[in-house]
Amino acid sequence: MADSDSSRWLLNLQGRCLMTCALLLLAAVSSEQLSENFYDAKCLQAMSIIKQKVDKFVNADRSVAASLMRLHFHDCFVRGCDGSVLLNSTESMLTEKEALLNKGSIRGFEQIDEIKYELEHACPGVVSCADILAVVARDATVKLGGWSWPVFLGRFDGVVSFADEVNGSLPTRLDSYAKLVATFAKVGLDAKDMVILSGGHSIGKVHCGAFFERLYNFQGLNITDPSIDPSFAAFLKKQCPQTNPLDFTALDTTNGTFDSAYYHDLLTNRGILQSDVALLSDPLGVEYAIKAVSDPQSFLFEFGQAMIKMGNAPGPAPYGWRKHCAFVEHKPC
Ligand code: HEM
Repeated sequence: MADSDSSRWLLNLQGRCLMTCALLLLAAVSSEQLSENFYDAKCLQAMSIIKQKVDKFVNADRSVAASLMRLHFHDCFVRGCDGSVLLNSTESMLTEKEALLNKGSIRGFEQIDEIKYELEHACPGVVSCADILAVVARDATVKLGGWSWPVFLGRFDGVVSFADEVNGSLPTRLDSYAKLVATFAKVGLDAKDMVILSGGHSIGKVHCGAFFERLYNFQGLNITDPSIDPSFAAFLKKQCPQTNPLDFTALDTTNGTFDSAYYHDLLTNRGILQSDVALLSDPLGVEYAIKAVSDPQSFLFEFGQAMIKMGNAPGPAPYGWRKHCAFVEHKPC
């Protein structure tokens, strides 16, 4: 057995032992058993602690909201919503954080740690990291103008996280519409959910290098993608000179506000990522974009519904709970 295989085998064995323990205590809690008031009896102040913290972070730096919201998405698509995206690597485990699609791109870990610290102080051993991500995603979205949605709670935290599981689990910026649909289907989301959740790009920023092909080397021809609105392409080139792939630009034209402008951008040839633009390659994507622009409120509502559905992505097993979101610490049965 290769070294990485044997360490993974050991971790899996450890995981199976923990699972037996967790199953005895907790029975198999499935996503259908999540409940909105899960913490009411155990930690009544949990929701207000999280909200106050998110308010504080976003008041200090509005751009944090997007990063916090995205963490829940990256968590749920790999091993289900089990907080595995938050785990630090160890000697025997290279975690999701280190994967190419995540490293240097996902942010917000310090903020989650601060929230967890406060929750552990108020109600030790109660609130899971996976649930914190789900609530934070909602509160951050609302803080930037999105509509609220009920967050169903009671997720367990995982004890493993593997960088090599990220590829193939998360969608990528170069994916076609069909590929995006297939990737979302793996976590129980349909094409419409995919189109709606892509509206997450209504907020936040993107590294310039993530769309350089479209600006500077479309189809390997050293030209700009002719489908980009020319004045927008000129604007992007100013924002993102070819020499600076690590600079950032906004993902949509109103990126400090959560709204349906992302779809207006798509329809006016101002989409940024190839995967964003790909939404319009299918009639469903076009139809939805037109609807979101003509009825922005329906998008704000449907985004919340799709986030609830995404938050149900089941993890491999109900392992338990972590005291610190970045580390595994076993709670005795
Ligand atoms: C449809 C497939 C998706 C692809 C291919 C994709 C890809 C990307 C990429 C490449 C970036 C920029 C990363 C960087 O430059 O470091 C990004 C940023 C972002 N994505 Fe997505 N994404 C997708 C879906 C989603 C979904 C479903 C959500 C949330 C519900 C979301 C929320 C965000 C946010 C908020 C940011 C900005 C983060 C920040 O400013 O820190 N994305 N995405």
